[in-house]
Amino acid sequence: KDEITTIVVFGASGDLAKKKTFPALFHLYKSALLPPHTRIFGYARSDLSRSEYEARITANIGKSDKERACIPGFLNICSYIRGQYDRDDDFLTLRREIEAKEDVMLNDAACDSSVAATSNSSSSGLSIDSSCRAGRNKRVFYLALPPSQFVSVARQIKNNVYDPKHYNRLVIEKPFGHDLESSSHLCQEIGTLFPESEVYRIDHYLGKEMVKNILVLRFANVFFQAVWNKEHISNVQIVFKEPFGTEGRGGYFEGVGIIRDVIQNHLLQVMSIVAMETPNSLDSEDIRDRKTEVLRHIKPVELDQVLLGQYTASKDGSKPGYKDDDGVPKDSNTPTFAQMVLHIDNERWRGVPWVIKAGKALDAAKVLVRIQFKEKSGNVFPDLARNELVVQVSPKEAVYMKTLVKEPGLSTNLTLSELDMTYQSRFEGISIPDAYSTLILDVLNGDHSNFVRADELEEAWRIFTPLLHRIERENVQPQPYAYGSRGPEGADEFAQLRAGYKMPEI
Ligand code: BG6
Repeated sequence: KDEITTIVVFGASGDLAKKKTFPALFHLYKSALLPPHTRIFGYARSDLSRSEYEARITANIGKSDKERACIPGFLNICSYIRGQYDRDDDFLTLRREIEAKEDVMLNDAACDSSVAATSNSSSSGLSIDSSCRAGRNKRVFYLALPPSQFVSVARQIKNNVYDPKHYNRLVIEKPFGHDLESSSHLCQEIGTLFPESEVYRIDHYLGKEMVKNILVLRFANVFFQAVWNKEHISNVQIVFKEPFGTEGRGGYFEGVGIIRDVIQNHLLQVMSIVAMETPNSLDSEDIRDRKTEVLRHIKPVELDQVLLGQYTASKDGSKPGYKDDDGVPKDSNTPTFAQMVLHIDNERWRGVPWVIKAGKALDAAKVLVRIQFKEKSGNVFPDLARNELVVQVSPKEAVYMKTLVKEPGLSTNLTLSELDMTYQSRFEGISIPDAYSTLILDVLNGDHSNFVRADELEEAWRIFTPLLHRIERENVQPQPYAYGSRGPEGADEFAQLRAGYKMPEI
């Protein structure tokens, strides 16, 4: 479509923009997925020359010849504006720049259509969609900023740049607050400036291929639908393991901890998709309604449901402990590992333990969801092992089903094998897009399904805030575990005890 689209990346000189936002925008550009009339503005306080700006935004792109060939075209649509985050004049300048470029794009689009009209007299000749003809351009304001700047920048946009005659979309990165109160406050402030329908809160896990796939697996396959409940599922495990520590991010992580960093957001989002009821439709509000409903049925987590850990140096001393990281006080009690057992108190899930395990500096790089089925009923065959469905989010996207089969040959023994759909072998040659590309495309399409709604966020904080406050108030000591290990000693036993269920090692 010949839409007139402007994307403004605030915080354009920062790390997030360099590592994620611009590479994602480039990926869309290279794949011809950005609307043809698109302009990207980087906005930041740094005094960057054009070449410095270009060096930053291309720092993480151009790995292949094909990619490198697209860089000049991409740079052509990128501009940089230096400005403060709270100064009216700077935002008025931004507005003027946006409008000037929109005029140019509109002319280009008009030319394109008249060329199309002359070359094909049977067509209407107008490829500009009706919204653009009516002067409704798309403006995406992407806040790749620290949370302390969210409100100030949103207010500046609203006061000085926002034009209700266009489509305005405000994209915000996590963290959305620090606890229930701060998050509600933030939502309220943003809510006075932008309606919820214009706000896109990014949780990049929602843009991951396998997380998006959960909905399809569940609701497009009749056999999963039939067994997706407490009658057939004994427990669900959601595991996040990183093989590296905070490595220089300790200053940030110290005020956050593993629960806020990945559990309250990424893993809880995954859990709500695995657990949700069938949505009325694939409409984003129907999906978000169902996810929020699940969260409403989870009680706030108690301290005795949780095992906390903090990594120390590796056994051979080659890797540092968390407290050796810059910005981490020597007496820090910030958890870098947490394992907990949650319950969803509704008809579908009552009694099924949900084990969440997340940690930094562990023995593997792995994010997965394991759905363990109950022992089969009837006893024609001996109980050797349970069926298990595994959705591996990373590093290698896969879905596999642990299934009992007869050992091949003359043996009558059973063996546990896998119905395996590892994406790399099943869909040879495909490249799976980065979560950010998917999410930015969703923003351009006005699709909210993979973004966190305000009430959903509030529920997520409600579940964890009392626990987080108690950990901080009582200065709860995490258990040490060595860098590169499986986590604190006794973590498996703890999960089994809390779940009341013997589970395999996770
Ligand atoms: C981020 C956390 O939100 O997610 C990081 O702040 C974590 O600490 C990262 O490493 C994990 O994301 P991914 O996409 O690498 O699994």
